[in-house]
Amino acid sequence: MTATLSTTHSNKKLALFPSLKGQHVFITGGGTGIGAAMVTAFAEQGAQVAFVDVAQADSAQLATTIAANGYLKPWWRVCDVRDVAALQQAIEAAMKELGDFSTLVNNVARDDRHTLESVTPEYWDERMAVNQRPAFFAIQAIAPSMRRLKGGSVINLGSTGWQTKGGTYPCYAIAKSSVNGLTRGLAESLGADRIRINTVSPGWVMTERQINMWLNAEGEEAIKRNQCLPDKLQPSDIANMVLFLAADDGAMCTAQEFKVDAGWN
Ligand SMILES: NC(=O)c1ccc[n+]([C@@H]2O[C@H](COP(=O)([O-])OP(=O)(O)OC[C@H]3O[C@@H](n4cnc5c(N)ncnc54)[C@H](O)[C@@H]3O)[C@@H](O)[C@H]2O)c1
Repeated sequence: MTATLSTTHSNKKLALFPSLKGQHVFITGGGTGIGAAMVTAFAEQGAQVAFVDVAQADSAQLATTIAANGYLKPWWRVCDVRDVAALQQAIEAAMKELGDFSTLVNNVARDDRHTLESVTPEYWDERMAVNQRPAFFAIQAIAPSMRRLKGGSVINLGSTGWQTKGGTYPCYAIAKSSVNGLTRGLAESLGADRIRINTVSPGWVMTERQINMWLNAEGEEAIKRNQCLPDKLQPSDIANMVLFLAADDGAMCTAQEFKVDAGWN
């Protein structure tokens, strides 16, 4: 082991899922934050991960660190998911190189702040293009792959932010609330081919972006007041739930929302 994987919980004894070894997993927005924790967690389970992101330097560093730690090097491409054709081409390219994918994690999002008054139709479309549209078209591109494998798992990252009436990002809230609709709306048709689809909704997770941009004294107080558990949520806490849903252990879970929010909701 030459470098430490920053997202690993060193003090927790976590499960190994034998069914994840050798699985092919595609993750959107895997270069930093919760996405990077999931890329790392799947690699630690012996899975072959592919991911897309716009953050070139962070993505390259992540893939190098994972390989240096002795795990399968993630396949990755710079891809702006607002371009649906580019996203679908990246999925096709990954499948051509690695083979079929049994797990898809729709993770990419941007929680930029805005007000009701400031939103133009162009801004609205851009918010949906990053926070809502990519998940549907990623599923469309990858479902045939899962059908060939006679099953699969789609995990859509939702949010508890809109459920707690977080008021500083209405377009993000609207897009994130639709993740449950995506999961519920596709569960029956995908389920016929043993493709499971679930939502994982994080509470307030301490990614670098959250700490740098939004966490302040008021936020610290809100965490203390609202969470049942005293510890702050880490990206790896979300990854742990996603691993379970991707593994055979989650075999009969579909069409559900799983909250990982330390009891805030
Ligand atoms: N962090 C939280 O507290 C929190 C809370 C609730 C829900 N979530 C959800 O969890 C998921 C991950 O959130 P996060 O906090 O890790 O986000 P983040 O902003 O830290 O990371 C998102 C990743 O997506 C990439 N990305 C952004 N725009 C892109 C684009 N157009 N094309 C390709 N890649 C792009 C970024 O470079 C980054 O690597 C999201 O779906 C988010 O809505 C997060």
